[in-house]
Amino acid sequence: MDLADLDPDPVAQLRAWLDDAAAAAPRPDAMVVATATPDGRPSARVVLLRGLDERGLVFYTNRESRKGCELAESPWAAAVLHWWELGRQVRVEGAVEEVAREESEAYWATRPRASRLAAWASPQSSALAGRDELEGRYAEAAARFGGGEIALPVFWGGYRIAPASFEFWTHRDDRLHDRIAYRLTPSGWERERLAP
Ligand SMILES: Cc1cc2nc3c(=O)[nH]c(=O)nc-3n(C[C@H](O)[C@H](O)[C@H](O)COP(=O)(O)O)c2cc1C
Repeated sequence: MDLADLDPDPVAQLRAWLDDAAAAAPRPDAMVVATATPDGRPSARVVLLRGLDERGLVFYTNRESRKGCELAESPWAAAVLHWWELGRQVRVEGAVEEVAREESEAYWATRPRASRLAAWASPQSSALAGRDELEGRYAEAAARFGGGEIALPVFWGGYRIAPASFEFWTHRDDRLHDRIAYRLTPSGWERERLAP
């Protein structure tokens, strides 16, 4: 892989790789997002990439979850997408902001009813007395909403990682893999090759 093989716009490049992955990988939009406590202790988990444009990468979650609490105090994240089938990895790092409520509402409306009830039922990242507690909370939410509209909870919504850097990695059998890094500067995106 050469610089010339990649789009100078990293968002366009990521979109192209996501398109390739959609044809090759079972879950092309799964990404690991790492957050950290203010004293620098990281935590990481898989979420689904639900939006991508020039402003950044969007995922949805519970704002009171472990990641939500960490982001409230340290609004910065690192994300990794990896497609084994393509031998490709993308890394992204940047400041994180909450997605506007109207945008979260638009996404919320596309979620299946059961997923919306589950979001209401699950105090994500909190300890549960047992599986019964979770199922009880789900049944309670289902009874409360009945067949009516299920509103977006105030504790749930999107986060956008506004990229300050990207890295595009491709596998080579000789282990001399290719890595091209993008860094956002006042004059735009700058690129350089990194040692594997
Ligand atoms: C394939 C996959 C996709 C997931 N997608 C999401 C997601 O989009 N949002 C979310 O909150 N959790 C998602 N999860 C669950 C998270 O990995 C994690 O368990 C949860 O968000 C709690 O993380 P936290 O306690 O670090 O906040 C997903 C897990 C897997 C394995």
